[in-house]
Amino acid sequence: PIPVIIDCDTGVDDALALLFAVRHPGIDLRAVTCVAGNTDVDGVVRNTLTVLETAGAPAVPVARGAERPLIEAPRSAAHVHGHDGMGDLGLPAPRRTPADVDAVTLLRREILASPRPVTLVPTAPLTNIALLLRTHPEVTRNIERIVFMGGAAGAGNATPVAEFNVWHDPEAAAILLTAEVPITMYGLDVFNRVVVPAAEVRRLRASTEPGARLAGDLLAHRPAAPGTTAGGTGGTAVHATVDGPGEAAGGLGDAGALCAVVDPEGLTTHRLPVEVSLAPGPARGQTVVDRRSRIGESELHEGTREQAMVDVGLEVDVPRYVKLYLETVEAGGTR
Ligand code: BDR
Ligand code: CA
Repeated sequence: PIPVIIDCDTGVDDALALLFAVRHPGIDLRAVTCVAGNTDVDGVVRNTLTVLETAGAPAVPVARGAERPLIEAPRSAAHVHGHDGMGDLGLPAPRRTPADVDAVTLLRREILASPRPVTLVPTAPLTNIALLLRTHPEVTRNIERIVFMGGAAGAGNATPVAEFNVWHDPEAAAILLTAEVPITMYGLDVFNRVVVPAAEVRRLRASTEPGARLAGDLLAHRPAAPGTTAGGTGGTAVHATVDGPGEAAGGLGDAGALCAVVDPEGLTTHRLPVEVSLAPGPARGQTVVDRRSRIGESELHEGTREQAMVDVGLEVDVPRYVKLYLETVEAGGTR
């Protein structure tokens, strides 16, 4: 299995990602670190521990990380993820407490201790990762790749042009992009497309297995973004199907980044220069993706500035990832 560490802000869709990672036989989930984002960091820790317990992986080490971005004050996403960051589903309190080391220390320890290079999967603001890279740069020698959920080549969500994770801590995202390891950006261009049809959500919710049932409840809390087609190939401007009251198709969100780790063939990426806009103003937090390089125009305008080259996900095989997700989460409960 691929050694994986997730850095998250659980978070309805981070929870979907954790369920998948715990249950996929091709993933060896070595640690989970928590950062402020969807909710405050203590809430993130609590949610993360509860999800791991429900998924049947109570022993994975979990550590508390940054409680605020590098420069700015934290900003809540309660309007998306509920007051507890988990859709206000009324989940039980976890039975254990987090590790007695902070996230950066745990990240360093687990990365360097892994017998094989680790795939690091941030699905949250990049504060912990920036602190790690600046404090312990030697970790890059045992990182295979960073697959992060964040950014957008097209429209944003937190602002017209900025995606939430990058917008919440733009300086941290800029530091991540300069890391000397291969980076895959699983941004909004693909994130918004992977939607589980309402009938499947309904089936999961009726499951007697706690992990599968939790996945169903979480998906029901994540109605698909406008412009997506449930289970389809994306692209058609149709709102997600709603079968009845409270029965909407649900976006996989952050869990799609984990699908890209185990099944990279389902994601079409282009190696492109990416830069984070840091200036105050309406573009702050935007990931400026230079797609001109695909048609050879960039040399006309490019200065001498160093830019990070990132494998940017631009297309995704939606039915493939939906199938992968459902099979993994449902089979995992019986393994
Ligand atoms: C990202 O922001 C959070 O609200 C989600 O968990 C996801 O990681 C999407 O912009
Ligand atoms: Ca997240």
